[in-house]
Parts: sequence; structure tokens; C-alpha cells
Amino acid sequence: MAYGLLNGKRGIISGALDEKSIAWKVALKAHEEGATFVLTNAPIAMRMGAIKELAQHCNAEIIPADATSTEDLEKLFTQSQEILGGKADFVLHSIGMSPNIRKGRAYTDLNYEWFKQSIDISALSLHRMLQTAYKQDAISEWGSVVALTYMAAQRTFPFYTDMAEAKSMLESIARSFGYHYGKYRKVRVNTVSQSPTVTTAGSGIGGFDKFYDFADKMAPLGNASADQCADYCLTLFSDLTRMVTMQNLFHDGGFVNTGVSMEVMEGR
Ligand SMILES: NC(=O)c1ccc[n+]([C@@H]2O[C@H](COP(=O)([O-])OP(=O)(O)OC[C@H]3O[C@@H](n4cnc5c(N)ncnc54)[C@H](O)[C@@H]3O)[C@@H](O)[C@H]2O)c1
Repeated sequence: MAYGLLNGKRGIISGALDEKSIAWKVALKAHEEGATFVLTNAPIAMRMGAIKELAQHCNAEIIPADATSTEDLEKLFTQSQEILGGKADFVLHSIGMSPNIRKGRAYTDLNYEWFKQSIDISALSLHRMLQTAYKQDAISEWGSVVALTYMAAQRTFPFYTDMAEAKSMLESIARSFGYHYGKYRKVRVNTVSQSPTVTTAGSGIGGFDKFYDFADKMAPLGNASADQCADYCLTLFSDLTRMVTMQNLFHDGGFVNTGVSMEVMEGR
């Protein structure tokens, strides 16, 4: 059921690769809730083609942008303002990739060039986006920026390797930039720490299936789905959460605060 929560709002949604992507669900729901937006992803993701179906469904234009390129991001914010007819009210950062994870490198055997790429793509890209938007004054007063993160920023999950560092930095950037953008234009910046979710990025992590089941048994509400994550993001884009900023918000069915569950103890 739609509530018209984003009626009249304009936005930028990054990271929709295929129908499993969290950003894909955010786009579908933002469309249902009355928003108009542009979609963006790395030029390489365009070749997969799926994003075009989403764009058609949501009546959205696509602006290719590599989130590690300031030039691309400058074009993203300039062109999106032309297309949407004004500044963005919301921005979704749904971008993550670790070459070390992709290539199966253990945490004790990381390739440092790839480590730098993990940080650049998965964390600095949020700063780059925010700094570009800030300089162009491209986000409306009381606008909202949400980036997706994972709990490995706080607690150790050995298979998450260098993405743990990237997510720690991402969350720190949300806090630090949240201060500056809050002062400047009352723009809020938050991270949503999502349960393990079956997507291209998620499933690429070693041991994902086993861990997915473990987290599902630990969390009193079970794992949060991508659809539910999208619902939560929309509340943060809406005017109902105007005073929430510089937060890392867990969207994980209660996993983070559960020491152990009976299902895990009894091996059920
Ligand atoms: N799936 C999970 O278990 C899970 C859990 C918590 C947080 N997250 C986070 O959610 C976000 C979205 O991931 P997802 O699970 O929907 O997977 P996904 O693979 O569908 O999305 C990741 C996106 O990042 C994009 N991307 C990679 N490099 C890029 C670049 N240089 N420039 C621009 N875009 C680039 C990809 O094209 C892709 O669309 C990520 O930040 C991820 O870390 C995922």
C-alpha cells in the first residue's frame, strides 16, 4: 500500500544492478510513493542492461557515473538537476565492491592495491558524492542522504575482510559530513546497517549462505529483506524523520543486540 510519502520529491538512486539489488527495491517503492528520480550506476553496470527495464518502469532517466570519479559525479548532479527540474530531496548511496573479496583473498593476505579500490569504491565514494553535491549546492534544504552499510563496521565477521574497514569509514563519513551538511542546508546523512541479503554483492561473500541462515536464527525477527530495507530507506527520505542525522541505524531484525538465540543454542 502506498502512502504518498514522497509525493513531489526528487531524488538520485545509485546501485540498482538487477532486480535483487536493494537499490532496485528502493526505486520501485520510491516510484510507488510518488517520487521522481534519476538512476545511476557505474558505466560497466549499464552493459548488463537490466537497469533499463527499471528505468522504463519508473519513468526515470539513467545517468552513468563511476562513483570513484569526481568528474562523473559532477555530471551526475548537474544533469539530474536539469532532468528533475531542481535540487535532489534525497540521495541513495548503494555502492560496494571489494576486489579482495571477489578474488577470494583472505584478510591476512590482502592485496593493498585492491584494498585501496575497496575503500575508494565503497567508502570515499560517499564523501565524493557529498562533497560534489555540497559544492554545487545540489541537495534541497531538509534533504536526506542514506548509505547502506553492514555491521562488520562494529563487530568482526572474518569473511567480510577489507569491506569491514570500508564500512567503518563509510559510517564515519556519514557522521562527519552529516555535521557539515546539517549546518549548511539542514541536510541529513545516515547509514542503514542491513541484514545479510541475497544480492550480487551479498552472495559474493565467502560462506554467505551459512551466515545468512545463522543471522536469521539469531535475530528475533529474522533477517530483514531487501524490500523491508527499501521501506526503511523511504521513511528516512520522507519528512517524518527530519531530525534524524549522523546515525548508523540497524535494520537487522534485532541481530545486533542479541547475544545468542535458543535456535542457535539448540542447533535448530
Ligand atoms: N547484500 C547484503 O548482504 C548487504 C548487507 C548490508 C549492506 N549491504 C550494502 O548494500 C549496498 C548495495 O548492495 P546490494 O547488496 O544491493 O548489491 P548489488 O551488487 O546489487 O549492488 C552493489 C552496486 O554497487 C555498484 N557499484 C560497484 N562499483 C561501482 C562504482 N565504481 N561506481 C558506481 N557504482 C558501483 C554495482 O554496480 C552495484 O549496482 C552495498 O553498499 C552493500 O555493501 C549489502
